[in-house]
Amino acid sequence: MPDFLSLLLPALRLLPPELAHRAAVRALQSGLMGNAGSDDPVLETELWGCRFPNPVGLAAGFDKSAEAYRGAHRLGFGFVEIGSVTPRPQAGNPRPRLFRLAADCAVINRMGFNNDGVRRVAERLARQETRGILGINLGKNKETADAATDYAEGARHLARFADYLVLNVSSPNTPGLRALQDPAALVRLIEAVRAAAAHETPLLVKIAPDLAPEDERDIARVALDHSLAGLILTNTTTARPASLRARHRDEAGGLSGAPLRAPATAMLGRLYRLTEGRLPLIGVGGIATGADAYARIRAGASLLQLYTALVYAGPGLVARIKRELADRLRADGFSTVSAAVGADHR
Ligand SMILES: Cc1cc2nc3c(=O)[nH]c(=O)nc-3n(C[C@H](O)[C@H](O)[C@H](O)COP(=O)(O)O)c2cc1C
Repeated sequence: MPDFLSLLLPALRLLPPELAHRAAVRALQSGLMGNAGSDDPVLETELWGCRFPNPVGLAAGFDKSAEAYRGAHRLGFGFVEIGSVTPRPQAGNPRPRLFRLAADCAVINRMGFNNDGVRRVAERLARQETRGILGINLGKNKETADAATDYAEGARHLARFADYLVLNVSSPNTPGLRALQDPAALVRLIEAVRAAAAHETPLLVKIAPDLAPEDERDIARVALDHSLAGLILTNTTTARPASLRARHRDEAGGLSGAPLRAPATAMLGRLYRLTEGRLPLIGVGGIATGADAYARIRAGASLLQLYTALVYAGPGLVARIKRELADRLRADGFSTVSAAVGADHR
């Protein structure tokens, strides 16, 4: 029997994008979807003391306020990243702020960190005994002048629920946020969050695909010097490739999906080399097939995430990617994901 969400997808596409997203969150919350079952052992991977049943995660932004992460686990994701969460609840930018670019298999969003704030999110997380593998992505409120205080507050409330924490310094929709990728500002954030989080939670930084080469070098150096647990790359891009055809291509905001695939893969390869393969990297941006997933692992990703492809392919995508990835790993003689990480650089 086709699962509930697969039946729902064609109907969701007829709705305005933000309404469709709400409906998808509700459907995941409802627990009506079938259980994904256990994963092929070749997909299992271990990082930061966690055993990931598979390396395919749900990227930040789908479940900003921890409403649907359990349903996402049931869909077959190996891990889920919630957020971005800000200290105070925030309404985000005026609508419309989310646009489908179907002709380009892409999305543009300028949501602006709409979320329920750290207290509500902590309450929700505290209600569940088992949360699956959970990343928590932290942001800052739009009006906050001293960014470090916001990230530290997020960590104070949420670190105890997280298998890893992410400093999101790369969304294009909060003024000044991406300036936090500057080395001095980034080091200050890292230190503030480490001082605030009582637990030794692995700390990652999520970066933009629009950095200059010298910025990439600086971030790699900060990540190694300050013992980050990893980097997530990439967030959405402010670039607008000439190839875009859809009506909404000139909307302001961050572009995700297929047009991000090649630049995000190339950047991942560069950061793998800059960090000498010593730092776990989470690859995200335009992953839509098992071939994309495998290419990202070979370029240097230890884990993967996706969001936009789900909008176009629906929830069956997760099982398909995992199946194709397992086949490709085996065909090339790899018995684990970690053995294939960075294979293109050897
Ligand atoms: C509607 C939407 C909202 C997003 N919100 C966030 C967010 O709050 N925090 C964040 O770090 N990334 C956010 N992202 C970025 C995604 O996590 C991901 O990095 C990006 O979309 C590229 O992956 P994809 O091509 O698979 O979508 C958002 C993306 C979309 C499409």
